[in-house]
Amino acid sequence: MYLTRDEELILAGEEGESSRKAMELVVALGKIYGAEDLIEITSAHLSGASYKTIGDGGLKYLEDMAEGGAKVSVPSTLNPIGMDRERWREMHIPQAFAEKQLRIIELYKSMGVSPTCSCTPYLGDNVPSLGDHVAWAESSALSFVNSYIGARTNREGGPGALAAAILGRTANYGLHIDENRRPTVIIEAETDGSVFSYSMLGQAVGMAVGGGIPYFRGVEPTVDDAKTMSAAMAASGSVALYHVEGVTPEAGNFDISGLEKVSVGAKELREAYDKLNTADDIQLIALGCPHLSRKEMKDIATFLKGKKKKNKDVEIWFCTSSKIRAECADEVKIMEEFGPVLADTCMVVAPIEGIFKRTGTNSAKAGNYLPTLCSQDVVCRDILKLMEVVL
Ligand code: F3S
Repeated sequence: MYLTRDEELILAGEEGESSRKAMELVVALGKIYGAEDLIEITSAHLSGASYKTIGDGGLKYLEDMAEGGAKVSVPSTLNPIGMDRERWREMHIPQAFAEKQLRIIELYKSMGVSPTCSCTPYLGDNVPSLGDHVAWAESSALSFVNSYIGARTNREGGPGALAAAILGRTANYGLHIDENRRPTVIIEAETDGSVFSYSMLGQAVGMAVGGGIPYFRGVEPTVDDAKTMSAAMAASGSVALYHVEGVTPEAGNFDISGLEKVSVGAKELREAYDKLNTADDIQLIALGCPHLSRKEMKDIATFLKGKKKKNKDVEIWFCTSSKIRAECADEVKIMEEFGPVLADTCMVVAPIEGIFKRTGTNSAKAGNYLPTLCSQDVVCRDILKLMEVVL
């Protein structure tokens, strides 16, 4: 693998221990995946922000990196953390967890990472452009920016994305290369046009294609549709890039004649729905996976306005970014009559196991992870149907 003179010097430790470790990791990944060289990136998005997911081992790794003088060299944002920084008591978070979580944020801040903690940074201040090379490590977000925006990133892990952020470079392989962005299967898709049906479509397609690169026909996803579909496909399969005919910017770049065609319609969406639903009743309704957009906040508030929460036994959490929460003050006021609008956290990376057993979600991604990462049985429905439980 070719390294420039400067890169060799970083690897030799000339720029400090943290940069050396970062280069060692990026070079090791490059060798595993057959990269010929490194490529400059314009931004990074880091996972491994919740104390629940990284534990004491991850915290120690971050302590060591910070102590070694690690500083990011490109704009870098963070994934959701295990609690709302101010309102963690409303989430039943133990004090000991909160202290460690706050320490993690301080460590990232000391490295120059923006403490915005959202899985939808592309709706905020970290918005790549078509053709940008980036190193992103949230499966839903990286699929969205690869596909809907046409930026280029592999499915980075937390340490790999942090290393790339420090170096401002990543190994040049996989989805950074034109040829590897070619579709592998055509999906003749049907939805009813709702965001929820795009979530089920993503679930069905991820199950069908695994790690392929689907090329969709017959659908026109909006930003919110693509947000939920990206998350679902990355969770039920490992899709990191897809194309949508007439919608996504690279869809017209490839000759797709001769590709296998798969139809995904009402029957497949129903199968996806049946797979995700494992409970009949709910203790918690958690919305915002991926984090609620401005439009979703508006839609929910419009629906709830003038209504009363009658079923007090069910808690409701609305999850979004701190930026969108601050921008949607009127909507937040209405929504808070039903439950807290939590910033920079989510139902999956918060330690909800032990507090709740049955959770309602409108997200196929949450529907996949709540059973495995949070020991929950799941009710997966459209938002309005979930809300019927409390009205
Ligand atoms: Fe985001 Fe948490 Fe879902 S990180 S995509 S809300 S599992």
